[in-house]
Amino acid sequence: MQGAPPQVTAPRKRRRLTDEVVIDVRDVHVSYDERSILAGINLVAYRGEILVIMGGSGCGKSTLLRSIVGAEEPLKGSVQMLGEEIYKLEEAPLNTLRKRFGILFQSGALYNSMSVGENVALPLREHTDLDDEIIRIMVKMKLELVGLRDFENLRPAQISGGMKKRVGLARALALDPEIIFYDEPGAGLDPVVAGVIDKLIMDLSQKVGVTSIVVTHEMGSAFRIADRMIMLHEGRVVAEGTPEEMRTSTHPLVKQFINGEPDGPIPLRRSRIDYAEDLLA
Ligand SMILES: Nc1ncnc2c1ncn2[C@@H]1O[C@H](COP(=O)(O)OP(=O)(O)OP(=O)(O)O)[C@@H](O)[C@H]1O
Ligand SMILES: [Mg+2]
Repeated sequence: MQGAPPQVTAPRKRRRLTDEVVIDVRDVHVSYDERSILAGINLVAYRGEILVIMGGSGCGKSTLLRSIVGAEEPLKGSVQMLGEEIYKLEEAPLNTLRKRFGILFQSGALYNSMSVGENVALPLREHTDLDDEIIRIMVKMKLELVGLRDFENLRPAQISGGMKKRVGLARALALDPEIIFYDEPGAGLDPVVAGVIDKLIMDLSQKVGVTSIVVTHEMGSAFRIADRMIMLHEGRVVAEGTPEEMRTSTHPLVKQFINGEPDGPIPLRRSRIDYAEDLLA
């Protein structure tokens, strides 16, 4: 009996492991100097999924991450993480909550005065009573995960930008968090290392059930890893869906963004045009 013809490209099965909402952002508004950056953001993230957040440079993605993790209190709206209203918590329960999520900052944000190993050990020293020997072993394991096992004793100034990013990731993983926030994890990395980071994000989600919130501009990576995607524009979520839904979207903003088209509804800000003109003058 003849079977069905083989599928040329089997789509990766998109998963939602549970319906448990681990992040619930409602009507979040953030302004800087009276300039509105986030103008009523609503989103949820489910346990175990990889949620990709995309949007043009300067549209507020990093600001949104900062708001979710408790570092940028919204003027209006609410942020719930793991069942807690993050801006209503006292210091002690906030510290307990902080142990349950990790952040890979856009810049890596390492302490230059400390070695690579000490940077990764920092959350373990701040949030646990583990003794030095256990911490040393855990640091080795996390550095191994990001392919930097032998770099423990170097200073951030002695390693490349891409390596700093991976050290930042090892530090974000230090406490085995339930949720990890990644701000541009692949930026500045060569394609092979970026692929390794993508695989790590997927493994953490699929094998350990970690929830990942990933801000990225790299469309290849976004479509590889996402279970669900949202797109920000002018301070709002303008589109949301599975990678398949986004790829076939007829929304002009989504089409322009994922195809990298210069012309369309996403404007190049006047200030950036002025800047480019200044450079050329
Ligand atoms: N602390 C701050 N004070 C004043 N303005 C800020 C501050 N942080 C961000 N902004 C402004 O808010 C806007 C959004 O910044 P944000 O860093 O969130 O953008 P982004 O989407 O992450 O951009 P990119 O893709 O380039 O990283 C920008 O116009 C930025 O200049
Ligand atoms: Mg950013």
